[in-house]
Amino acid sequence: MQLLVNIDHVATLRNARGEGYPDPAEAAAVCEQAGATGIVFHLRGDRRHIRDEDVYTLKKTVKGILDFEMAATDEMLAICNEVKPQLCTLVPEGREELTTEGGLNMKTVFEDYKNRVFPAFKDSGIKLSLFLDPNPYDIELAHRLGADAIELHTGTFANAPTDEAQKNELDRLKEGAELIHEAGMIVNAGHGLNLDNLPLLISHVPHLHDISIGHALVSKALYWGLEKTVKEYLKIMKPLISS
Ligand code: PXP
Repeated sequence: MQLLVNIDHVATLRNARGEGYPDPAEAAAVCEQAGATGIVFHLRGDRRHIRDEDVYTLKKTVKGILDFEMAATDEMLAICNEVKPQLCTLVPEGREELTTEGGLNMKTVFEDYKNRVFPAFKDSGIKLSLFLDPNPYDIELAHRLGADAIELHTGTFANAPTDEAQKNELDRLKEGAELIHEAGMIVNAGHGLNLDNLPLLISHVPHLHDISIGHALVSKALYWGLEKTVKEYLKIMKPLISS
């Protein structure tokens, strides 16, 4: 298991004043020095946080895994193929949303992904991950496409209104992780994770590889600093860190 820090909201803060700081690349370096295995960014079509120049800088400065999160538009496919991160996580993207609101609907995107998106990555060396809710049918279609990894959407678990709803979602995530693993794909997870709910997730859901955390981590860093915050997350993950 390894921690990838999403640094989008460092860019959100920078953009609020149009100054050059805080710098996402500097934040990424602090996260890596504190022990994070890699960095995630989402270059959105509207460029509301990360901008094109950040992507090229991060490519140069990040030493570990770089995970390029994006919608599968032709524009993003071209940028991603030029930047060549180790990992590309494909997500749905809605113009009005505050953040990614759920996993891909594989039935809807299957033909397009098969004919346009996956061929665009052929021989690129970039691993492809699909952001999915833990639905067996979506997982099966992702496998048929030849996805390397699936990032399980943990937002429903994180925002569950009752203990019972949370328990149901944890069971679904556990079953989803087992299916992904049995199919030979890597199990990643992210969205809405924080210091309170992460222990519950990792004690119930097997085979977790990359854990992607942004908003709660960057928010806590305002009080504690990035280095201490990353280390607190790593403490939780430590028993499972080499598996
Ligand atoms: N994974 C995906 C696919 C996401 O879209 C996001 C949000 O950008 C995250 C993980 C991180 O979520 P959060 O910011 O809630 O930690």
